[in-house]
Amino acid sequence: MERAKTYKKTLLIESSDKKGIKDCAGHLKNGEVIGFPTETVYGLGCDARNGEAVKRVFEAKGRPADNPLICHIGDKEQIGDIVSEITPLAQKLIDAFMPGPITLVMKKSDSIADETTAGLDTVGVRMPSHPVANRFLKEAGIPVAAPSANLSGRPSPTSSRSVLEDMDGYIYAVIDGGDSEYGLESTVVDCTGTTPVILRPGAVTKADIDSVLNGGETVIAGGLSDKETPRSPGMKYRHYAPYARVEIMQMPEGVEITGDNAIGSDGKIGVYEPVDLKKLTDDEAKELVNIVSPFILRSREILSENPFARIGLYCGGEIKAMYDKLNDKILSAHTEFCVYGRTVDVSSASHGLFEGLRFLDVQEVDVILAQGFSGEGLSVAYMNRLGKAAGKKEELTPGMPAPARPARMPLPIDAFKDTNTASVLFIDDNNISLSACCEVLMRRKIEKNEPYISNSAADTGFEIYCESAGLTAMTGLEPDPQMDKAVKELTGFGLGSVESRRADPAIYDDNDLILTVRDEQAFEITKAFPQIKDKVFSLSTFAAANGLVMKDSTGKVMSISVPDPSGENYETYLHTAKALGAWLDLLFPYILKDLGAARV
Ligand code: TXA
Ligand code: MG
Repeated sequence: MERAKTYKKTLLIESSDKKGIKDCAGHLKNGEVIGFPTETVYGLGCDARNGEAVKRVFEAKGRPADNPLICHIGDKEQIGDIVSEITPLAQKLIDAFMPGPITLVMKKSDSIADETTAGLDTVGVRMPSHPVANRFLKEAGIPVAAPSANLSGRPSPTSSRSVLEDMDGYIYAVIDGGDSEYGLESTVVDCTGTTPVILRPGAVTKADIDSVLNGGETVIAGGLSDKETPRSPGMKYRHYAPYARVEIMQMPEGVEITGDNAIGSDGKIGVYEPVDLKKLTDDEAKELVNIVSPFILRSREILSENPFARIGLYCGGEIKAMYDKLNDKILSAHTEFCVYGRTVDVSSASHGLFEGLRFLDVQEVDVILAQGFSGEGLSVAYMNRLGKAAGKKEELTPGMPAPARPARMPLPIDAFKDTNTASVLFIDDNNISLSACCEVLMRRKIEKNEPYISNSAADTGFEIYCESAGLTAMTGLEPDPQMDKAVKELTGFGLGSVESRRADPAIYDDNDLILTVRDEQAFEITKAFPQIKDKVFSLSTFAAANGLVMKDSTGKVMSISVPDPSGENYETYLHTAKALGAWLDLLFPYILKDLGAARV
């Protein structure tokens, strides 16, 4: 499917911008595609009566057209126009659950385009409860066909930022409405018959639906065979997948962590408060060890196979607290956390799942270990999505190329409450060649990966600085012209911004991490200033401290050695600068982690 950018930039409309929302509704009626918030996930809306507009949605998503879209409405009165029959069962469910996170499949009327329902004679109807969705849908006054606003196969977006990540330039505008409350798509219920059939589990659970039936029981649609046309066609594709491989960490036998009743008493979800392990009872502590062990054992197994592996954890706060307490340096250096709240809280886990998968992807982890839940309620929907995210790569929709990593979107200026800073220092003997090269290469890397947040508090921004100095450097020397040229060739920036200077205690003090080009230099610094030994490493020892053991083809452990190119020809300089760049690329995630920062 062709995916062509139609707009230079997708507009971001504030939820309070009444004129902007009106403008979006106008463009929608003219056949354009608009991203909008709902309480489940963000949707990509278009006029459900207009087949051409629907095609545009499929194009923007890169989604095969055999997958029907849900029709969204702002008013229950509209249902009569889009369906040909409201069964008594449908009426009961409309009364009980609309507006809310539910989609009811009913017989369609002729007003809905065949493209919307992918040729089916039924249509999914949904009335979101999100106030901004409601305002937009009322303003439009037409049935709005909308799938989740992600690129096909990616985790559904639960923030306008994630919509932009996948859709910038492909749609006219996205309306911001904050983070989606539930974070998982609506429960899809077929109510064309007398028994409701759940085609896709969601926040409205089987028990919720059973409770409004006068006897009888809701059916949950079973697995899909290959030949059968799926009743909910969306269920046959691999979905929600981050680029990293996903593994589910099931609760060990005997541990009860259904969590279905565990919404925080204050009603807040997705709030991570650091956990005080000392406050746990003995039984709680024992249970915690059982829950955390699979994460640790699996991580160690992964690292023994690949010492370069980076592992993302989607887990509860208690698990992070246990890792902190364990204080295994190598394990910690290879682990990125995304903490959803309390371990047992499946509402928070659901709320944060898709954003969490996206966040861990940005940290470029290779594997994501995610907390599994058992139980009947919301756990069913959570495990349904997580199970699909963990689906094998080869289950990607046939004929669809794996989507490329989208570019990172800028954050709004006021995104952070506070900002932390940290700085890394590069040291060589002189400061006109290798250390200066490291400084400039590192700066480029830092800029390219901006912005950063604190890896312990997501509402705290992080600024990272980088400098260099030389143990025996003279102050104010011009950079080595050959190295200057080599770095310019690699990055477009020379060493002009680096003024050579001698390292001293004040400079050491200003920096949180000190990396020397050669091992002897780190040794020399720590001998003179033993009190700072914890933050001084050579490039080699920093790699080793993070468990990065590099071996050559004969199995011999390699150390990072960068010979001084001075006196050699330009090719040698260029080669050296490239080698330093490659080491810094490898070490960058560990440097970030050491400084306490993460990418956003
Ligand atoms: O929460 C939601 O439902 C979100 C927000 C944006 O409303 N929308 C959403 O849409 O998740 P989408 O397209 O990503 O998923 C729609 C699901 C698919 O599994 C599709 O197969 C099913 O609903 N579906 C839609 N119409 C159907 C129909 N007529 N019969 C059976 N299944 C249908
Ligand atoms: Mg979807």
